[in-house]
Amino acid sequence: MSDKKTIAVLPGDGIGPEVTAQAVRVIEQVNGVFGLSCTIETQPVGGAAYELHGHPLPPSTLDLARSADAILLGAVGGPQWESIDRQLRPEKALLGLRSELELFSNLRPALLFPELADASTLKPEVVSGLDIMIVRELTGGIYFGGPRAIEGEKGSRKGYNTMVYSEAEIQRIGHSAFQMAMQRDRRLCSVDKANVLEVSELWREVMIDLGKSYPEVELSHMYIDNACMQLVRAPKQFDVMVTTNMFGDILSDAASMLTGSIGMLPSASLDSRGKGMYEPVHGSAPDIAGQGKANPLATILSVAMMMRSTFGNEPCAAAIEAAVKATLADGFRTGDIAADGQAIVTTEEMGTAVVDRVSKS
Ligand code: IPM
Ligand code: MG
Repeated sequence: MSDKKTIAVLPGDGIGPEVTAQAVRVIEQVNGVFGLSCTIETQPVGGAAYELHGHPLPPSTLDLARSADAILLGAVGGPQWESIDRQLRPEKALLGLRSELELFSNLRPALLFPELADASTLKPEVVSGLDIMIVRELTGGIYFGGPRAIEGEKGSRKGYNTMVYSEAEIQRIGHSAFQMAMQRDRRLCSVDKANVLEVSELWREVMIDLGKSYPEVELSHMYIDNACMQLVRAPKQFDVMVTTNMFGDILSDAASMLTGSIGMLPSASLDSRGKGMYEPVHGSAPDIAGQGKANPLATILSVAMMMRSTFGNEPCAAAIEAAVKATLADGFRTGDIAADGQAIVTTEEMGTAVVDRVSKS
């Protein structure tokens, strides 16, 4: 792969700039080691963009995101923007990027690194070897459905949203999930609330129909409340889970905590052509921003997902993941993943350790 690729880097707020800086060093390293020519272009997003341009997703940022081959995003948000108009809050940039670029397929792995088995609040035997992939629908459902409003006079106001899915929307996320299952253990659990919601009844029906095209995949169904319970009771029963935008928001937070180290989890949001936005699952952590304490591994692992899913470069993705594993095995720990008494490295030292370990195997 020697053709030129542009990666849009949107560092965002809080620890976003620190963690993306280390991920960019890894991109530069794989450029050299694998002979790639990925160019980096940077634009502000979220609160940082609001401060500069008065909007969390200004045209210059959206244009870059549209024209780039892939996007690497740090994190958005912070207490200073919590009271501004809803339309201008940093989170709106995320929702805008997702819908404008039609990034409907959100992949959120929950993978436990053996070196960090003690980091989970669950018993090691419950989580050791955990490897779940949550496929969350990201551009539809109650997040984007209408009508939606708060209306009426104070004292008798109503607030409402609409959870709506078309068959086409369910089919495309379904295909994503079945294909993911085909690359893994071939088990797919579709999560819904079909005992109460019509939209879920349709979801389930469409998933069952789709399943006929993927006879090798074992399809099961679970209600969202039970899925949450099973996730903390016996998480290793799951391989791939597919669900709606809001259920996926909730399930993926729960799943991330099973690993005990949200600072380790990457994610991808893909369109139908495989273009994607890659970002750590963790947020902007304003309390530790600018102190060199943040764990850059989730963002670095997001680069690995980018190499795999958008650039189709499995050797490069595997090399980055192997470098992260080696870094952990060699004992490098940021504060969030350090056990009592273990030495703590800075964000930059962690980045350097990974850069030093990236090699063609
Ligand atoms: C996530 C976040 C976002 C979401 C917020 C920040 C809008 O929680 O990516 O999971 O709800 O999708
Ligand atoms: Mg969330």
